[in-house]
Amino acid sequence: MSRALATSDPSQGSRPALQALPADLDPTRLPAHVAVIMDGNGRWARRRNLPRVMGHREGVEALKRTLRLCSDWGIGALTAYAFSTENWSRPGEEVSFLMALFERVLARELEALDREQVCIRFLGDLQQLPDGLQELIANAEARTASNSGIHFNVCTNYGGRRELVRAARRLAEQVARGELDPAAIDETAFAAELHTAGECDPDLLIRTSGEHRISNFLLWQLAYAELHVTDVLWPDFDAQALTLALLDYQGRQRRFGGIDPVSP
Ligand code: IPE
Ligand code: IPE
Ligand code: MG
Repeated sequence: MSRALATSDPSQGSRPALQALPADLDPTRLPAHVAVIMDGNGRWARRRNLPRVMGHREGVEALKRTLRLCSDWGIGALTAYAFSTENWSRPGEEVSFLMALFERVLARELEALDREQVCIRFLGDLQQLPDGLQELIANAEARTASNSGIHFNVCTNYGGRRELVRAARRLAEQVARGELDPAAIDETAFAAELHTAGECDPDLLIRTSGEHRISNFLLWQLAYAELHVTDVLWPDFDAQALTLALLDYQGRQRRFGGIDPVSP
């Protein structure tokens, strides 16, 4: 499906050539859905004696790179953690910079994303975002909804706990209206009330910058994801780092609570 990019008319834009899947990766065992906690922008900047926000700017380039690679390599969905419900506690200037950056990048990149058949969605409590950003998001989601390429989910003002509470409330409201029998609430019904409804759970979670924690990301959906932590800081994340994450993933035995089929 994301292979649609391969056949798109090159005269339509300046998209770089398709990148081939590295030979050491097995094309039949790629994750269908990759999630990424893009961490380390501030440290990347600090190491260069730059203001933290320069790290965020460079982080956008890493995200564009990663999206293109995932699309080119046939990965069905990429979900990126851009701003958490806890990130409002950062200095006001940094928060304002990030909101303005999201607006600028979305306005600038939408046309190319659409042309490349990316289907973009923003997951989180969007009502708290600046009005201009909310409008851009609504427009981007509507414009790309029927695209046939990679699903690109950007978690913005996203918190796993908030998402779970929201799902519980939505189900409770349906019960209160007499539309839902509490006995009918199962895992499928619950998952349908999450922001990620309709998307398969991530197979692989990548966290950059060496932190070994989830930071309130996709608490439900990561139940059986394989975890890959790299010391690479997000702005430095590139094809080599993604290849290493995918090789790590392909070396894992996923058991989902069962046993290794070849064990005695
Ligand atoms: C991740 O980088 C980006 C966001 C959370 C918005 P950080 O800004 O957390 O970078 P560090 O962790 O301070 O290096
Ligand atoms: C997680 O990074 C959130 C995003 C990448 C958007 P943080 O930098 O906010 O996480 P903590 O505070 O180190 O756990
Ligand atoms: Mg951080």
